[in-house]
Amino acid sequence: MSKRIKIGLIGFGRMGRKFFTELIKNDKWEVAYICDISPEAREDAASLAPNAKITCDEDKIFADPEIEVVGLFTLANSRAGQIKKAIAAKKHIIAEKPVADNLESEQEVARLVEGSGLMVAVNLFNRMAWYHKEIMDFIAAGEIGDLAIIRICHMTPGLIPGEGHEYEGPPFHDCGMHYVDAARMYARSEFATWHSQGVRMWEYKDPWWVQAHGTFKNGVIFDITQGFVYGHLSLNQTHNSYFDIIGTKGTARMTHDFKTARVELRGVTKTLTLEKPFGDKKIDVLCDVFADSVRSGRNEGFPEVKDSVIASEFAWKMLNDAMSNELPVIGTAEELEQIRRRRQSLTDGYGLLKRPSAKTSKKQTIA
Ligand SMILES: NC(=O)c1ccc[n+]([C@@H]2O[C@H](COP(=O)([O-])OP(=O)(O)OC[C@H]3O[C@@H](n4cnc5c(N)ncnc54)[C@H](O)[C@@H]3O)[C@@H](O)[C@H]2O)c1
Repeated sequence: MSKRIKIGLIGFGRMGRKFFTELIKNDKWEVAYICDISPEAREDAASLAPNAKITCDEDKIFADPEIEVVGLFTLANSRAGQIKKAIAAKKHIIAEKPVADNLESEQEVARLVEGSGLMVAVNLFNRMAWYHKEIMDFIAAGEIGDLAIIRICHMTPGLIPGEGHEYEGPPFHDCGMHYVDAARMYARSEFATWHSQGVRMWEYKDPWWVQAHGTFKNGVIFDITQGFVYGHLSLNQTHNSYFDIIGTKGTARMTHDFKTARVELRGVTKTLTLEKPFGDKKIDVLCDVFADSVRSGRNEGFPEVKDSVIASEFAWKMLNDAMSNELPVIGTAEELEQIRRRRQSLTDGYGLLKRPSAKTSKKQTIA
């Protein structure tokens, strides 16, 4: 068996811990460093990873010649600088999205990566999902006729204003860029037109729910609904997430409860229903594919920076379109305060950033 690939993780918050959990299960990897500026995160890292070096100084990771890969899981404001350091130090990179906190820097990062000869993956999890592969294979087999309409919805009682992720933008960019990316992945074309409507829930300055619709250059039509407004104060919370793909002859759709994904395929020769584990952010798949890519020297199927930058660009454009239209204000700042208080007391909920210490709880949160 070949030597384990040594990786240094920078950022040990919600996503850094998800990567850590998958990397230590995979014998292609060795987590050699964990870096975080938060003492609490470093304390958790030390108890979870006794064999790793724990540091608050990211430069130690970039300077260590034994480190082949860096995992960049801080917030978007530090990502471009860290990617530049990694490229200068000739380290391969697994990065969270977006790759920077503004489009100009994202495009600069894409140019640097392009000429670097290094492997750089971005965690666009839809591109690693078994259910999208099943649906795209079904479409490619001609079962739904010509692809015509892509309808995507993702609404949860997730991250609320002021909780974190400020550099990632409002939900339609922070989370919605995944669905902008997925629409483009299905359409196999570039965005041509779009119109968006949002709502300023609870008197907050930015829209926390946005719906965008439009066309691709090949004529395929899309609509994307994204919002972290879905019943925050309901006694028992739920979410509504689906892909609904409509062709000239058949349909393909998926939905999930964050545990199981259900795919329903209605084609001209086949009707199929598939149910398998949802697989959270598919980080296990990404880490495995990335290890194989580092060893083989070619991309074995991981999502690339250029796709992330395009998704980010059009998520901003659609969000900005919503901002330029009439934005109704519904709900009150008082309700938002009630939601904030409730989320502070939750240990198991949607998109909770502040995690309890590793010593006191191992509960997972969902998106
Ligand atoms: N791909 C996905 O599905 C997905 C889902 C959620 C979040 N994200 C992205 O992942 C990133 C991280 O999100 P999160 O939810 O884990 O946030 P988080 O706030 O839980 O974690 C960020 C961590 O980075 C640390 N940090 C910040 N700046 C640092 C620095 N300069 N050096 C070292 N550590 C630093 C913080 O102390 C914190 O522990 C965000 O950019 C977000 O957009 C992606």
